Amino acid sequence: MNVEDIRKILIVGAGTMGQQIGMLFAVNGYEVMIYDVSEDVLKKASDRIARLADRLVQIGKFSKDQTQKALERIQTTTDPENAARDTDLINESVPENPELKGNVFGMFHKLCKPETIFTTNTSSLLPSMFAGASGRPERLCALHFHDIMITDIVDVMPHPGTDSGVVDLVKEFAERNGQIPIVLNKEHSGYVFNNMLMGFLASALTLAQKGVAPIPEIDKAWTGVMHTPAGPFAIMDTIGLGTVAMVIEYWAQKTNDRQANANAEFIKEYVQAGKIGVKSGEGFYKYGDAA
Ligand SMILES: NC(=O)c1ccc[n+]([C@@H]2O[C@H](COP(=O)([O-])OP(=O)(O)OC[C@H]3O[C@@H](n4cnc5c(N)ncnc54)[C@H](O)[C@@H]3O)[C@@H](O)[C@H]2O)c1
Repeated sequence: MNVEDIRKILIVGAGTMGQQIGMLFAVNGYEVMIYDVSEDVLKKASDRIARLADRLVQIGKFSKDQTQKALERIQTTTDPENAARDTDLINESVPENPELKGNVFGMFHKLCKPETIFTTNTSSLLPSMFAGASGRPERLCALHFHDIMITDIVDVMPHPGTDSGVVDLVKEFAERNGQIPIVLNKEHSGYVFNNMLMGFLASALTLAQKGVAPIPEIDKAWTGVMHTPAGPFAIMDTIGLGTVAMVIEYWAQKTNDRQANANAEFIKEYVQAGKIGVKSGEGFYKYGDAA
């Protein structure tokens, strides 16, 4: 398979990231199918993608004409067979759980053609955790995005069983989508940027969990000195506290680190109260318009 042979993309999971990544591929001329588990989720995702298109025009990233044509290239489905048909590359953005990701890839392995490349957008897991379950470990690697509104940096990360040709192909594919790939030599949780970010967020959570300073003060200390618009808690609200909590809890349990477990409990209280960040209208802060 050459990069020109990649035409049709399947996005699995229509949440925060699936919406963004689907839009990005569509605006770059790819046919995009978005698969999720319910029509209700897909309807909400379609509405949010339309709003995302408007925002991308507003910030000058793409023209109105580009986003309009992109929207016409995006389809949605809850039917796995329909989703898998003619797909050349999958990018998966289901919740951060290795078993779930393995099950999803395993299902699509049975439905996709043998050449289809499988990529995961996991934030902190390792592809080798579900490479076996994917049914095609040699064609699986990570293609990991950040927020497409703020950066074009993506991570391309193989696991020990990934074919090196697949890594080159995924790198080239990312570049064709206007992205700047950071290609890792080997698996490492959190890639490059996220590895640094999670350390930063953990420090901020520890300060709040120990009651050292109120949350807005911790953010102010960071934004005031670094002259950046958002501090660690505002950043977590943007990522989504559900996703942050899952990442922190998973690694807290794996490492059995006492402070990490306390931080996981701290953030889970917000999630259990329905405060999951910008997308729900409230997280560590309140947002006037949940959209
Ligand atoms: N949010 C971020 O800033 C961010 C950034 C980079 C990577 N990621 C990673 O992307 C992945 C998704 O994160 P998100 O924030 O978009 O999550 P999200 O909760 O917003 O969306 C997840 C979506 O997956 C769907 N889903 C659940 N089970 C499914 C299944 N079996 N088949 C198909 N769809 C299913 C859900 O219905 C939901 O729409 C995670 O692995 C996360 O670590 C998140």
